[in-house]
Amino acid sequence: MITLLLLGFGALSLYVYCKIKFKFAEKIPCVEPLHPIFGNGLEFAQKNSYEIFKSITRAYKDNKRIFKLCFGPIPVICPTHPDLIQKIMTEPASMDKPFVYDFMRVDHGLLTAQYDEWRVHRKALNPTFNTRILNSFIPIFTDCVSKMIANMEKHAGDEKPINMLEFTSPCTLEMICRTSLGGKVLEREGKQEFIEGLEIILHNVGLRMFNANLYPDFVYKNTRFYKAEMDARKICYAFTDKVIREKRAKFEEKLRSSVDSNNNSAVSDENGNVVFADEEDDMLSYKKPQIFVDQLLTIPNDGKPFTHEEITDHIYTMIAAGNETSATQAAHACLLLAMHPEVQERAAAEVRDLLADDVEYTHEILKQMEYLERVIKESQRLCPVAAVYGRKTIGTIQLDEYVIPKGFILLLNVFALHRQKEHWGPNADKFDPDHFLPERVKARHPYAYLPFSGGPRGCIGSRYAMMSLKIILSQILKNYRLTTDIPYEKMDFKFKVSMHLSFEHLIRLEPRA
Ligand code: HEM
Repeated sequence: MITLLLLGFGALSLYVYCKIKFKFAEKIPCVEPLHPIFGNGLEFAQKNSYEIFKSITRAYKDNKRIFKLCFGPIPVICPTHPDLIQKIMTEPASMDKPFVYDFMRVDHGLLTAQYDEWRVHRKALNPTFNTRILNSFIPIFTDCVSKMIANMEKHAGDEKPINMLEFTSPCTLEMICRTSLGGKVLEREGKQEFIEGLEIILHNVGLRMFNANLYPDFVYKNTRFYKAEMDARKICYAFTDKVIREKRAKFEEKLRSSVDSNNNSAVSDENGNVVFADEEDDMLSYKKPQIFVDQLLTIPNDGKPFTHEEITDHIYTMIAAGNETSATQAAHACLLLAMHPEVQERAAAEVRDLLADDVEYTHEILKQMEYLERVIKESQRLCPVAAVYGRKTIGTIQLDEYVIPKGFILLLNVFALHRQKEHWGPNADKFDPDHFLPERVKARHPYAYLPFSGGPRGCIGSRYAMMSLKIILSQILKNYRLTTDIPYEKMDFKFKVSMHLSFEHLIRLEPRA
């Protein structure tokens, strides 16, 4: 009897607690069907990640400003109007990340770091993506792409289509490894195990993010996925630790000898990085690629050097955030071009004119690839690889008439945002690069298009990505005409960490004369 009374009292207290804590969201429209105890959780538990995504996308269409999902009594707030999304992206109160980002285990990396640490690190890292540094990467990008084209060449003219992602993936992985860890990193012993390890880590982190049953640590730790992830991490960290330690030893040795010889050969560049006199010409004129790990060793982070752990987390964040996203986006763009021959021919003509006589890539040439840029942007609009992402409130934020308190999750669905007819017009579902004509961009809400997120916590690598995508796609278009049997109307998606096609990017390569 006493047990029953205690249970009843416990349930009543919980009910009252929830009523008070979640009162702010009572009037926010909720996705149906809503179970009185489990909220939307019960329905979602029976669906796979893509079916869940489809339900959420439908709800984004039906609710013009804001709605909520309920996991049991806990509301997750989903703003749909660009005005509200702009507020979320720009106010410090909503600049933290929800707990699922912790599954990546890179606590100090920009993507996942808590707001206070993120703010300091982002300030230190912003200059490492400046235009001159990005330009210093052009020769690396070009070299990686020429290897990709050489691999494609074996399949040129084949009746059997290739899976484009199998060619873009190694290319973007090499780009990110060479620009973050150094030129010869993928020639080192253990590189194959490192590459396979990265794949396992990303796969298992994605699996966990989209499977609520695996959220509790004690459950996940008892699965084979955890063991495989930990084994893979051990291998990957051993590989990168060696590179970072060698780089640090070299840097410290140079610093020591510059002090010993008392010749003041260490100076600072415009970003406050340490530069040695014998490298000064190359470094300051950015003739030499400004490798990310070298930058992390030399730039101050709030007056102190970055620790080994922080450097490691930043490197893994760049690899995780920049590799699969760029490879998949490049493959999506190729498929869309293969499905739209007129657009493809126009982009190919632009590339042919700009790259005549095998001219070398420069910042100027990339800037002139205006139509190709519109193609890339349109492919990011219709097939955004980062289709859903989240924020967590660390203070109160007012969204329309609702005041969202600290500690709640805000969920953004960019896939749905990019197809809202109110902002993209009646042809919102059609592939049309002219959606990005300058006059149309100017007339549109600036937060109606967010493939790289937005505001101060938006993607730090967006310009890096655009440059590398232009080099990848311009070389593919220069060499091949792309065809496919997949009709645009049949495009369908699935979720890993990012949004993928539910089938392969099957494309034929016809050599261009
Ligand atoms: C097509 C390629 C890419 C896409 C679509 C993309 C998209 C995004 C998006 C949507 C975010 C915000 C994610 C969130 O808030 O959960 C983000 C953040 C980030 N991205 Fe990218 N990204 C791309 C390429 C890159 C590249 C090449 C790099 C690095 C070289 C990079 C590094 C980062 C980092 C470090 C963050 C975290 C920024 C912060 O919180 O301060 N990304 N990216």
